[in-house]
Amino acid sequence: MSALRWTSRRGRALAGEIRVPGDKSVSHRAVMFAALAEGTSQVDGFLEGEDTRATAAAFARMGVRVETPSPSRRIVHGVGLHGLRAADGAIDCGNAGTGMRLLAGVLAAQAFDSVLVGDASLSKRPMGRVIDPLAAMGASITAGDGGRPPLHVAGGRALRGIAYTPPVASAQIKSAVLLAGLYAEGETEVREVHPTRDYTERMLAAFGWPIAFGDGWAKLTGGHRLHATDVVVPADFSSAAFFLVAATLVPGSDLVLRAVGLNPRRTGLLEALRLMGADITEEGRSTQGGEVVADLRVRHARLRGIDVPVELVPDMIDEFPVLFVAAAAASGTTRVTGAAELRVKESDRIAVMADGLRALGVRIDETPDGAVIEGGRLGAGEVESHGDHRIAMSFAVAGLVAEGTIGIGDCANVATSFPGFVALANGCGFAIDAP
Ligand code: S3P
Repeated sequence: MSALRWTSRRGRALAGEIRVPGDKSVSHRAVMFAALAEGTSQVDGFLEGEDTRATAAAFARMGVRVETPSPSRRIVHGVGLHGLRAADGAIDCGNAGTGMRLLAGVLAAQAFDSVLVGDASLSKRPMGRVIDPLAAMGASITAGDGGRPPLHVAGGRALRGIAYTPPVASAQIKSAVLLAGLYAEGETEVREVHPTRDYTERMLAAFGWPIAFGDGWAKLTGGHRLHATDVVVPADFSSAAFFLVAATLVPGSDLVLRAVGLNPRRTGLLEALRLMGADITEEGRSTQGGEVVADLRVRHARLRGIDVPVELVPDMIDEFPVLFVAAAAASGTTRVTGAAELRVKESDRIAVMADGLRALGVRIDETPDGAVIEGGRLGAGEVESHGDHRIAMSFAVAGLVAEGTIGIGDCANVATSFPGFVALANGCGFAIDAP
């Protein structure tokens, strides 16, 4: 763990127009699918984060030429579905659950053995959720203690399609199964209890793979080809989320976020904030690479607590740390339920947010699948992000309305998803000190 400590305190009203970096989910998939396609694909708006760079590096180590002609652009010389070769040693997925789980689906079908490792946080995260369905398809993957990384993926296995319903709402599980399904004999089908982000389905179709999908289901057969295609990555809604909450909380703010990806399976926070009283409007809707994008204009508004509708949870699963901050600054009580998945993210986000908010004087009760947060004032104090990028950025938002300075420990991992966060934030009104 790194000792990188930030401080965040009140700044000025947030104003101006900003563009947050490219979407993490789309960037991972764009590089993966381009690598497995036949021909050369260009990816524009690629997230220059540590997570997505680790995925690009993984494919480079398996023989894929990936060029970086300029920042946020990649040219990927695809090797075709069967053109990967064994990496010379373990593949490091860094902090990225998406990278490791999707790669497990691809590597389970290769002719060679692979080993996947991750950083301290990823090494604690459950992998049984992808190993189980992949094993049912014929794969052989062994994990460390308790189904955690490292993963040893045996090659040379013939896979067969399955019909699978993941036990938890997870686009990563769905995607791992569908990717293995590209190589499987027969049909692979995933049916979800709660629909999750559908980037894998949309992008497979864009790369020319026959796939049928709708809300909460997807079906494909093995044995086709992926054809190179250019991908334009929209700005990441999850990165925009910190600014949506920040500008809502700070009086006098009026901020525009340019061209944010508004895939409906990602924008649950918009609905939750609007239920709390936020003033966020969409301007200039268009489609970019098959995804809806729009500018989001956010003006200060007073928030009130809500019971977060449980059906919104999968659509805002990455946004709960900053929602907790919004709830702590709102009037009244906010209740979160049905969100046990938060306990197995980059950190246990329920416990870590509860500890941090309590250190700032907020009344918050943890439950197994959520929390009850009493809104009111946020005090000064020291909090720990436990190396979780979204927790660090969420407490930076809290600093904007706290009664004094908030010290935030262990912030280095912000670079996994949001390089340049501090400069962008300070440029529009935050007051973060980062060494
Ligand atoms: C992601 C899916 C979600 C999300 C993660 C990215 C993806 O994880 O939390 O940040 O790109 O598929 P789960 O599948 O574990 O819900």
